[in-house]
Amino acid sequence: MLRFCTAGESHGRSLVGLIESFPAGFEISLEKINLQMDRRRKGYGRGKRMEIESDQVTILSGLRQGITIGSPIACLIENKDWTNWKNIMDPFKPIPSRLSPSEKKLAFDVTRPRPGHADLSGAIKYDTHNLRNVLERASARETAARVACGAIARQLLEFFDIRIASHVVSIGKVRLGAKKFSFEEMEQNSDNSPVRCLDSQKSKMMIEEIRQAKKNRDTLGGIFEVRVKNVPVGLGSNAQWSDRLDAELARGMMSIQSVKGVEIGDGFASAGKPGSIVHDRIYRDKSDSFKISKFYKRTTNNAGGVEGGMSNGSEIVIRAACKPISTLMQPVATVDLKTGQKAEAIVERSDVCVIPAAAVVGEAMAAMVIASALTEIFGGESRRAMEAGFSEYLQREF
Ligand SMILES: Cc1cc2nc3c(=O)[nH]c(=O)nc-3n(C[C@H](O)[C@H](O)[C@H](O)COP(=O)(O)O)c2cc1C
Repeated sequence: MLRFCTAGESHGRSLVGLIESFPAGFEISLEKINLQMDRRRKGYGRGKRMEIESDQVTILSGLRQGITIGSPIACLIENKDWTNWKNIMDPFKPIPSRLSPSEKKLAFDVTRPRPGHADLSGAIKYDTHNLRNVLERASARETAARVACGAIARQLLEFFDIRIASHVVSIGKVRLGAKKFSFEEMEQNSDNSPVRCLDSQKSKMMIEEIRQAKKNRDTLGGIFEVRVKNVPVGLGSNAQWSDRLDAELARGMMSIQSVKGVEIGDGFASAGKPGSIVHDRIYRDKSDSFKISKFYKRTTNNAGGVEGGMSNGSEIVIRAACKPISTLMQPVATVDLKTGQKAEAIVERSDVCVIPAAAVVGEAMAAMVIASALTEIFGGESRRAMEAGFSEYLQREF
């Protein structure tokens, strides 16, 4: 089973992503990885840091001549801001007594936790009064490493014609209407909007909403949707709670910083409707051959492509709701850990709204979860073994 983890602090030297158990024999394009890095960086509403974060991935291991060799794949992403932070974030050296004026602004102990962030719980848990030790890792800068790993998993999926796309459903109170968008529209057009929204009118309204929030020194949340196309029937399992595909997808999405709600398919809305309306009718498509994923179809996709913890062959549809960013330029009330007195929360350089970028991170998490489920079923050693298992399965008459 494919696994991945990340390391690195927001203002540390670099971030690292490590994928284990990636099968051998898959061709990986660095250009495609960097394309995903670029997509994560964009989106109207992001802070100044994005202007310097033109992330480029260096692959340290796991590939030769552009082909995976079955060993762990390590990705390195250097933090462009490191030069400004190296005296403050050095792993060994104490902060020097002589600092440049810009370094002096960064070298203070951070002691005023932001409500809504990891600051206070982390300070207590890790027994530190300097919140810098907590917030550096809690920061969603970490998602750059996830996107790098996801971009590699995505190339394995592409080999089996499994595709992933996303779009933004809402920002603040501006929300898409009832119009449904096809997967192809999402794939081709989302990135053309600065907020990755497919409705041009709503796109403008979202931008205005963000502009107003920024003017009011406030922040915004929203909802993004990720879809996965051409997933074969039967990924995941009904047999054990921990192997359910919906659970894995929800965990992947929920692990993204600021995500507070996840639904698959009609999710929360289905709770208020009768079963006779919710459940997607099954029919036999006589025009197709008797092949798995082709023969049995559904008239609708309220289930969002997963039933009983397993993919059912329909598009997988996941929505995630993100709370508004917790670093506010009009800081809210907190307590200073140094004095125990009432104080205003710290203000770090920050984004106003991250939903367009969060959707790209959502794609990366979906890629990892689906690739992992795929290798679990069709073998994780080599491309040839996977290909053989996959095509035998799809050709199987049922
Ligand atoms: C792509 C992305 C960028 C983010 N940027 C910021 C930011 O600039 N400032 C901030 O306070 N939170 C930001 N967040 C959210 C925080 O990282 C998150 O709220 C925090 O770690 C606390 O975790 P929780 O919201 O999951 O409880 C971002 C989240 C994502 C997905």
